[in-house]
Amino acid sequence: MVKNTGVKILGLHMSPRTEGTSALLLEKFAQGAERAGASVEVISVSRLDIKGCQECGHCSEAGICAIDFDDMSVIYSAWESATRIVISTPVFFYDMPSQGKAVLDRSQAFWSRRYVLGQNKDGVPGAKGFLLAVGATKGKDLFVPVTLAVKYLFDAIAFPKTFPVLSFRQVETPDKFTAEQLAEAEKAGFEFGQP
Ligand SMILES: Cc1cc2nc3c(=O)[nH]c(=O)nc-3n(C[C@H](O)[C@H](O)[C@H](O)COP(=O)(O)O)c2cc1C
Repeated sequence: MVKNTGVKILGLHMSPRTEGTSALLLEKFAQGAERAGASVEVISVSRLDIKGCQECGHCSEAGICAIDFDDMSVIYSAWESATRIVISTPVFFYDMPSQGKAVLDRSQAFWSRRYVLGQNKDGVPGAKGFLLAVGATKGKDLFVPVTLAVKYLFDAIAFPKTFPVLSFRQVETPDKFTAEQLAEAEKAGFEFGQP
């Protein structure tokens, strides 16, 4: 039995397919992190009701989002206490699925706190991020948009803008992963879960 080290990891799963490829990658990553003694809480954004940003400007004055009646509150409060976050996403039309994109856009409230209201300037102490990404094709730039989007999400929530990325091309369904690829995800989780 592995001793719990107290390391907590928040996993954000951005796909509508809850048993698809990015879910499996995240599952393997979490198994590795747990083998290192960390605990992992996964939030699957497609199970939540999250509206798009309305660009109303409320957050640039109040530091909080005006939409206070949807499930984004679950993610806002998870971000308030998280120090390690792994995001797992597929590529949809060279971007993140709309369910995940809604979460990115709603991080504007945190961006406003930092860059309009001058809060959280020093960043979250010891924070670390990680990106898992998967797509069905093999384009050279396949993961560029999601990597940039996650970079600016991490910056908004006061995480470092540099982070490891583990991505796999030509994987349309979970059965297309090789055992080596899944072992790589597990190993990455093991390393990320170290105290
Ligand atoms: C609406 C939609 C758009 C997609 N767009 C792309 C794309 O631009 N490039 C690509 O390589 N794969 C694309 N795919 C394929 C998915 O990225 C791929 O099947 C992935 O493994 C799905 O991950 P998931 O099972 O976690 O949702 C798309 C799939 C869907 C449903």
